[in-house]
Amino acid sequence: RQPSVIAPSILSADFARLGDDTRKVLDAGAQWVHFDVMDNHYVPNLTIGPMVLKALRDYGIKEHIDVHLMVKPVDRIVPDFAKAGANSISFHPEASEHVDRTIGLIKEEGCQAGLVFNPATPLDYLDFVMDKIDLVLIMSVNPGFGGQKFIPMALEKIRQVRERIDRSGRAIRLEVDGGVNADNIGQIAAAGADTFVAGSAIFNAPDYADVIARMHASIHG
Ligand code: DX5
Ligand code: ZN
Repeated sequence: RQPSVIAPSILSADFARLGDDTRKVLDAGAQWVHFDVMDNHYVPNLTIGPMVLKALRDYGIKEHIDVHLMVKPVDRIVPDFAKAGANSISFHPEASEHVDRTIGLIKEEGCQAGLVFNPATPLDYLDFVMDKIDLVLIMSVNPGFGGQKFIPMALEKIRQVRERIDRSGRAIRLEVDGGVNADNIGQIAAAGADTFVAGSAIFNAPDYADVIARMHASIHG
């Protein structure tokens, strides 16, 4: 199992002072930055693109930036995110016409590649790509907005993905996104996740360091 990672979703950060708020959450004990890209087409919301990622790099953010693409089409925007400084890029297989090609493109651009599964999307997309991907992202809400409630069925799906990853023998991360908080993160870790996205639970907390420490404690408890 990979060392656990907390990846705050900056969707819930203060966009008017995004650099500062991102620095603050990393200094408070988070390892990654989760970067939600929504296009008002694949999902009903519109957020941020490669220019904003580049601005965070120029501001001095050197940590892992984990791009979650909720866009259709996918391929056209991948090189722009790689050039802007993304470390990992994950996409929804339903949004790509050629899933294997998109994975290859992300890898060619020098990034780690991930597949994202919506709550009702079956895991079949994993069948023939386990030798290529670096990350599986299980959505525990329907994508589009922060602050939604964790869908409990996701726990069973996490267990199934954990089995598939263990069987592959590869160092693939198992990430969970949506409604994760200090109260349910222990259960999510026990189901097999090692990488935890949390937006509202961290950015709406009065003390980032305190909530992140409580999350780390329940992951290991
Ligand atoms: C949802 C996004 C999530 C979201 C998580 O479409 O992919 O990353 O911002 O926010 P919370 O933790 O508030 O559910
Ligand atoms: Zn996300």
